[in-house]
Amino acid sequence: MTINIISTGSYAGEKILDNEYFAKIVDTNDEWIQERTGIRTRHICDDITTEEMATRACESALDKLDMDRSKIGLVIFASVSSDTKTPASSFNMAGRLGLNGNPICFDLNAACSGFVYSMAVARSIMASMKIAYAIVIGAERLSKFVDWSDRSTCILFGDGAGCAVLENSDLADDSVSSSLDYRLEIEDTYLAGKYDKKKYLTLDSRDSLKEMRHPFIGMNGRQIYKFATDVGVKVIDRLLESNCISKDDIEFLVPHQANKRIIETLALKSQIPDDRWFVNLDEYGNTSAASIPLALNELVEKVLPDRKLEQIDGRRIISLAFGGGLSYGGFLLKIRKK
Ligand code: COA
Repeated sequence: MTINIISTGSYAGEKILDNEYFAKIVDTNDEWIQERTGIRTRHICDDITTEEMATRACESALDKLDMDRSKIGLVIFASVSSDTKTPASSFNMAGRLGLNGNPICFDLNAACSGFVYSMAVARSIMASMKIAYAIVIGAERLSKFVDWSDRSTCILFGDGAGCAVLENSDLADDSVSSSLDYRLEIEDTYLAGKYDKKKYLTLDSRDSLKEMRHPFIGMNGRQIYKFATDVGVKVIDRLLESNCISKDDIEFLVPHQANKRIIETLALKSQIPDDRWFVNLDEYGNTSAASIPLALNELVEKVLPDRKLEQIDGRRIISLAFGGGLSYGGFLLKIRKK
């Protein structure tokens, strides 16, 4: 039995803020932002909700499939910026998408690692509870939690949503067809965490009993940078070692899109060439749980179609994330020709 990605989708709002915009509201400039982060623009959704962004991402993934939506038995919604607490956004998504097969629904908060955590949990639930199809969503409207007067954080974040539709090979239905001529088999997952004792990355709940210190994203950039570059390499090593493969087997890495310098450092430390790292943070900034599915969907839509299937058949993709919690982890995909 294998659990496979059979479709992906993403959405980011039409409103785009460039670095010049920030130079007008805080003491910063385009050169500093590009040099320290690699970010040029970010998409902002101030007119639609997190769930609406997620709906558009999911509709685009489901449009690439020919399937009866009632076959979807699991919905996981990863976010730190969902619109409601109950019903959980995952339930609202089941309603919005017309998933009327009584799916298991829950939301998952592992900050920027939320999508990676959700993929691992989905894989495990699909195997143990014999679920045929699932949809895993990462969606964030971080713009509502950004302190627009703090130059060290406001430049970093953006809004967006992405998702993956998963299939359990043992329970696959012949009537379901995907527009992809390959599938991405989830070969392995790895999750870990380390309590953020010194509160390096925070977003306080707005209904805390205590008076709120700072109702925005708070971050010690230097410490998070060190953490990310340290655990990122551990995730890659762990996935390679556990699966007895080498870095030469890796066709692409799809890292959490936080900062270009973090990705360059990871490439250097892991000795995996820069050209195998998929990067789109220059356009989107850091979209937390949405970052990996947004990147994965662009890889599927824009990069993989240019490769000869025979050449990438059997090759691997590693996705890795790190973020608040402190959480980290990754998943290993094998490209399989259908
Ligand atoms: N424009 C201009 N100057 C800025 C600035 C901005 N937007 N933000 C901070 N600075 C200033 C600081 O005030 C500081 O000035 P000082 O030396 O006069 O005190 C100087 O730049 C250096 O600040 P520092 O925070 O040490 O910069 P840095 O090189 O560490 O870069 C980050 C800051 C946030 C870009 C970097 O730490 C980072 O990317 N960290 C990881 C963040 C991340 O990815 N988080 C999400 C993980 S899920």
